[in-house]
Amino acid sequence: MSIRFDEEKHLFQLDTPNTSYILGVQDSYLLHYHYGKKLLPGDVSYLARTNEPPYTPERNLRDKLSFLDSAPFEYPTGGIGDFREHCLEVRTQQGHNGVELHYKSHRIFGGKPKLEGLPATFGSEQDCDSLEITLTDSLLSLEVVLQYTAFRKLDVITRSVRVVNRGAQPIYLTKVLSACLDMDNEDYSLLTLHGSWARERRMQYRKLGYGFQGTGSIRGETSHQEHPFLALTSPNVTQTAGEVYAMHFVYSGNFQAQAEVNQFDQVRSVLGINPYHFTWKLESGSSFQAPEVVLVYSDAGLGQMTRTFHRLYRNHLIRSPWRNKKRPILINNWEGTYFDFNTEKLLSIAAGAAELGIEMLVMDDGWFGNRFDDNRALGDWFVNEEKLPGGLQYLVSQVNQLGMKFGIWMEPEMISPDSDLYRAHPDWAIQIPGRTPGLARNQLVLDITREEVLEYVWGRIRCILDSANIEYLKWDMNRQLSDLGSLCLNPDTQGELYHRYVLAVYELQERLCSNYPNLLLENCSGGGARFDPGMLYYSPQIWCSDDTDAIERLSIQEGTALIYPLSTMGAHVSDCPNHAVGRVTPFETRGHVALAGTFGYELDITKLSQADREMIPAQVALYHRFNDLVRSGDYYRLASYHENHQFDCWQIVSENGDESLVTFVQVLGRPNYHSRRIKLQGLRPEKLYREEETGAVYRGDALMYAGLMLENLWGDFRSKLIHLMVL
Ligand code: DGJ
Repeated sequence: MSIRFDEEKHLFQLDTPNTSYILGVQDSYLLHYHYGKKLLPGDVSYLARTNEPPYTPERNLRDKLSFLDSAPFEYPTGGIGDFREHCLEVRTQQGHNGVELHYKSHRIFGGKPKLEGLPATFGSEQDCDSLEITLTDSLLSLEVVLQYTAFRKLDVITRSVRVVNRGAQPIYLTKVLSACLDMDNEDYSLLTLHGSWARERRMQYRKLGYGFQGTGSIRGETSHQEHPFLALTSPNVTQTAGEVYAMHFVYSGNFQAQAEVNQFDQVRSVLGINPYHFTWKLESGSSFQAPEVVLVYSDAGLGQMTRTFHRLYRNHLIRSPWRNKKRPILINNWEGTYFDFNTEKLLSIAAGAAELGIEMLVMDDGWFGNRFDDNRALGDWFVNEEKLPGGLQYLVSQVNQLGMKFGIWMEPEMISPDSDLYRAHPDWAIQIPGRTPGLARNQLVLDITREEVLEYVWGRIRCILDSANIEYLKWDMNRQLSDLGSLCLNPDTQGELYHRYVLAVYELQERLCSNYPNLLLENCSGGGARFDPGMLYYSPQIWCSDDTDAIERLSIQEGTALIYPLSTMGAHVSDCPNHAVGRVTPFETRGHVALAGTFGYELDITKLSQADREMIPAQVALYHRFNDLVRSGDYYRLASYHENHQFDCWQIVSENGDESLVTFVQVLGRPNYHSRRIKLQGLRPEKLYREEETGAVYRGDALMYAGLMLENLWGDFRSKLIHLMVL
């Protein structure tokens, strides 16, 4: 058991291989003592400083507020005198808001229970142990169950919360965050990921200052702009040294990720559903399950944190049977044709691609209804036979005859005002009655929280998937939620819409997974706005960004791979000048960068230059050769273009350390410059490695502690792969 309870001291200790998470009960309050490097069992309750006057709780009621406003609470609540950011807030029938939680009971058990209706990490009794601590507010008859899991082979603790109304009256939850971490501020910086469309997940550090700082989304989805992740990092943290306390939210909607430094230099980090326009009516006897937060601590820099997340998500989050399998190399027609295609065009792309070893054709947006551009027809999921005579049956059978698989694009959550669906059901769009809703890309969001709407959407998805041999689905989502209103919610439950919407997306995706278990699902949201752990529970890969330029991708993929396994990152070779930035990069470099993800093509192969076309079979061969390693190996970030503005370098090492692939991208050529010395990581120091291209032999310790020379390449945007095998 990796979780123990000390009856005498009332201490809970959750251990992972290298970390401990310790909390305990004092005067019936649940306090947090330590998260970080592993400790032997012992009494660390002094860390809560409850012995320092005037904070002593029971013994100094006169100054109870001093205690509430400074004690390290495991799950702080609002309205009773903890003036810092808190996790739980309610509104009673009488309009009051205070909640005060006291320890009631706990249970410790093997394995990890599912979270009802929500994605979450999973593990068997061999993988992990769980702890549930029940706290109560007797005045409100409210129960709060804090759920923890400690993984036995990974330095991961997960947390979530269930709130149960044991009273006779409904109560309104106005804020339910999932996790809190109270610590002393040791000169930490806050690491978050921010971005924009085509510029997703750039890393940002800021030194913690007094007050609130953090990030969040109120866009109804994770968003391009912010990411539900935060990490406190010790001063000058690097890839290999320094402390990191990371929190990541397994959720795909509004979130709040915040750190607050208070008057005593304590830092409180919280993560959960954003309380913006959130109210949940909790009926008597019912419960509310908040989503999961993953905690990772590393005392060996960011790299170790990254590899822990990668292992967790590869083995304990992604469920798809594809998670450990090589995915078919696809060619997607979006950047190749946009809306201007028909069966003949698609088949010419497929035929050209099949000859070069590409394995699947994905037909993107524009195949249905009156969808000749992006102003119309979302919701009309009926094949446009003008474009595709003979329908999907004919097209897919022809593609299959070429020896290729077939995949399709859908955007099931959306409705265009100019669509038959909208003309029939204008009330199905999310909207505030009487107010003309704002449009984005000329579209609105369907209110899939309504049963009849969800069933319609599900019915159309089924119909399309069942109509032909479709083996892949790209599920897109191209506008964020605004003008929130649902015609099926009451005034006191409208505040549930954001969360209900996310639950409805999960419901649809769950149905997909159970009804089409072998379907390869790729989630997408105007590029990478829904790259989050919640979606990974349903799809083994997610489209990273609409920016397919190899150089822009260096930063996007670096920020994404900070947390997510390479096997999940949708990455394609596209045409030049690149459609997002107009940059021209060598075809070879585009291939090397896409090899760090799922790998595929997104261009009109019939228009490609002969020279580029000739490179495809070699790239395809590289993919087949290295994808097992890329998918299952450990990822090391060796240099970052985002930081050094010159070159990028990453390395993948097989689990046993015998094989390694280094990718070097020299962004800007440098005249009169010598080779760069790069220290590799993760190898076996005592072993000899042969570099495939040159045949040179190096010892592992030399490669790691002294370095490998990477020659200065001639030209901008050049790249090189270096493959090393143990002798
Ligand atoms: C946004 C996606 O990210 C693109 O790849 C493409 O599928 C378009 N939507 C289609 O509208």
